[in-house]
Amino acid sequence: MRPSADEITQALRATAGRVVGRRVEVHEEIDSTNLGALRRAEAGASEGLLVLAHTQTAGRGRLGRSWADVPGGCLLFSVLLRPLRGAEGLLPAAAALSVVEAVRAELQLQAEIRWPNDLVLAERKFGGVLAERFGGDLAAVGVGINVNGSPADLPEELRDTAAFLSPAVGADVDLLSLLRAILRRLDDNYLLLCEGDTRTIVKRVEELDCVVGRQVCMLAGGEQVSGLAIGWRPTGALAVRDDLGRVHEFQAGEVTLRPRAER
Ligand code: BTN
Repeated sequence: MRPSADEITQALRATAGRVVGRRVEVHEEIDSTNLGALRRAEAGASEGLLVLAHTQTAGRGRLGRSWADVPGGCLLFSVLLRPLRGAEGLLPAAAALSVVEAVRAELQLQAEIRWPNDLVLAERKFGGVLAERFGGDLAAVGVGINVNGSPADLPEELRDTAAFLSPAVGADVDLLSLLRAILRRLDDNYLLLCEGDTRTIVKRVEELDCVVGRQVCMLAGGEQVSGLAIGWRPTGALAVRDDLGRVHEFQAGEVTLRPRAER
């Protein structure tokens, strides 16, 4: 079932949302919820506005890519939040953390974060986060999650690497319950960031991330570095120690996990 603005507002009221979802806007179709939220910010909307859509005609992904969805089968939303000085790089990670915590708690699936903010299930991507800001002091933190459907419903080039939650659960997932669980956690995690508690966020993210402790190959700005991913930084950067022992910090890039060594 596709949740309406009233149902979402009601559900959030029941869980006493502090900031996230103070106002809710639901579209059957929109170009991009990130763009929709940023347009509202330009027109004076305040922190906490949630813009959700059942489908996007110009969904935006990381690194200038597009984001495809299955109409009515995905959670597609953006929240206007205030990136705080020193913690802005962790804002998308806090959103990814909230999704993974909610999926684990609500659906008992071993969801993980793959740096920087991919949402993965058994190494296949079921969602992603994109934070965008065009001037102004608010950012649109956009989340896309493949919930009810199958990779076969997505464009061909995504089918080998994408995942949906419902096949793993073995039944359709209630979108409203999952959304409520995510937003409740996003509210908590955002509050921690607002209090400057980046340590707790980094610790929780590292616990649920599938990259730290693995041999990786990182491609960033034309540079390629292979080595051991050793941890997240409070800026949201990933630290990688190369084979010569040098530590590189990446704020953005494309990470590939190298196969685990045979024992
Ligand atoms: C990624 O490339 O992994 C990030 C994908 C983020 C997609 C979401 S869907 C809701 C919001 N609106 C957008 O246009 N993009 C984000």
